[in-house]
Amino acid sequence: MAKARPRHRKSSKLTRRAGRRRPSLPHNFGFLLHPMSLEDVAKKYKIATKVSPKVVGTVLKRRRPFVIARISGVKSLTGVRAPGRFGVVPLLPEQFLTLDEDFVIDKVVKACKVCAKDGARIVGLGAFNALVGDGGRAVAQRAGVPVTTGNTYTVAVALEATRKAAEEMAIDLGSSTVAVVGATGSIGGLCARALAPEVGRMVLLGRNAERLADVAKHVRALAAGDVTTGTDVRSGVRQADVIVTVTGAAGAVIEPEDIRPGAVVCDVARPRDVSEKVAASRDDVLVIDGGIVEVPGNVNFHVDIGLPKGMALACMAETMILALEGRYENFTLGKEISIERMTEIEELAKVHGFKMAGFRSFERALDAADISLIKSNATRRLARV
Ligand SMILES: NC(=O)c1ccc[n+]([C@@H]2O[C@H](COP(=O)([O-])OP(=O)(O)OC[C@H]3O[C@@H](n4cnc5c(N)ncnc54)[C@H](OP(=O)(O)O)[C@@H]3O)[C@@H](O)[C@H]2O)c1
Repeated sequence: MAKARPRHRKSSKLTRRAGRRRPSLPHNFGFLLHPMSLEDVAKKYKIATKVSPKVVGTVLKRRRPFVIARISGVKSLTGVRAPGRFGVVPLLPEQFLTLDEDFVIDKVVKACKVCAKDGARIVGLGAFNALVGDGGRAVAQRAGVPVTTGNTYTVAVALEATRKAAEEMAIDLGSSTVAVVGATGSIGGLCARALAPEVGRMVLLGRNAERLADVAKHVRALAAGDVTTGTDVRSGVRQADVIVTVTGAAGAVIEPEDIRPGAVVCDVARPRDVSEKVAASRDDVLVIDGGIVEVPGNVNFHVDIGLPKGMALACMAETMILALEGRYENFTLGKEISIERMTEIEELAKVHGFKMAGFRSFERALDAADISLIKSNATRRLARV
């Protein structure tokens, strides 16, 4: 009988190299990505456009995590450099939400190990990789390398952007209604607690009334004004002048008709929470992509992450900052992040030269003229109502 030929698993050159353990040099980090959509999958595997989504899902499920690209050029103001790599967990957002959680955790753990073998001394859990197993805790127990979700610095940057955007739109937070969508989550919870003392009224939105009531108790203890909760996201955001939206939904949760004229929306979620239709049909609202940072040095990701050169998501930046600082620890995990931790990472970010990037909306840069046009469109629309 013919001997069965050993199955040859296709792996990238980088993964094969990662298989031979590289020396763990200091300041080395990894960051886990995953495809956000079928289009993302097709960027690497052209065939994905020619087969059904179901087949793509099945193939992805079987695919092992791998290193897709190295990251070079991250250089702190202190002169320290931090080389990195992107690991890929080949699962789509819907798969993170619907597959057996242990299976997904196992894939994320394997991806951490692949990065560690390649030399990473800390690994950031990007996007939905951070959502599984109680906000990264289950992954941290088995990864064999420190991990962080990056959510602490994400909140710091998102809040800075939200405050600045409100100011640009002449919104006084102290007398305004602010909605946090996904308020029971890791990022949403901290956004709500941090903003509570400075806003007129707060609306906490999510899917689960009991969890929202629990979060509201903590938020009320810090709040300057009224705090209410709601499970109807779309009607909740209609009350708000400022919206911070950061759910773990696989698709949009805010549509064009849900946003007040002149409102500011900071969309921190990946994939985004605000429907693309808003970009096409609402020229009177300021929607900004939340959590985008300028990286010090001359960073090259060697792969398209959907941002201009020199910019990264804040969760990636948190991982870089910890690597530059030599803080190889599980810095951000779970649903409860403290305000003190946020202050700490903000200070470290300054030391190393990370800062909030200019406003972007639906992946397009916004300048002062764009914002002043949005403002005048809003004034005109409000005059008609
Ligand atoms: N921009 C960046 O740099 C950056 C960095 C890190 C993470 N992120 C993104 O931020 C998002 C949230 O991350 P996280 O770690 O805070 O997640 P998380 O702790 O799991 O929280 C997700 C929140 O979203 C709510 N939610 C989930 N699906 C929903 C739906 N269909 N409608 C309304 N609410 C829904 C959850 O409510 P329940 O109580 O009902 O579960 C929970 O409050 C993700 O999209 C992630 O990719 C962005």
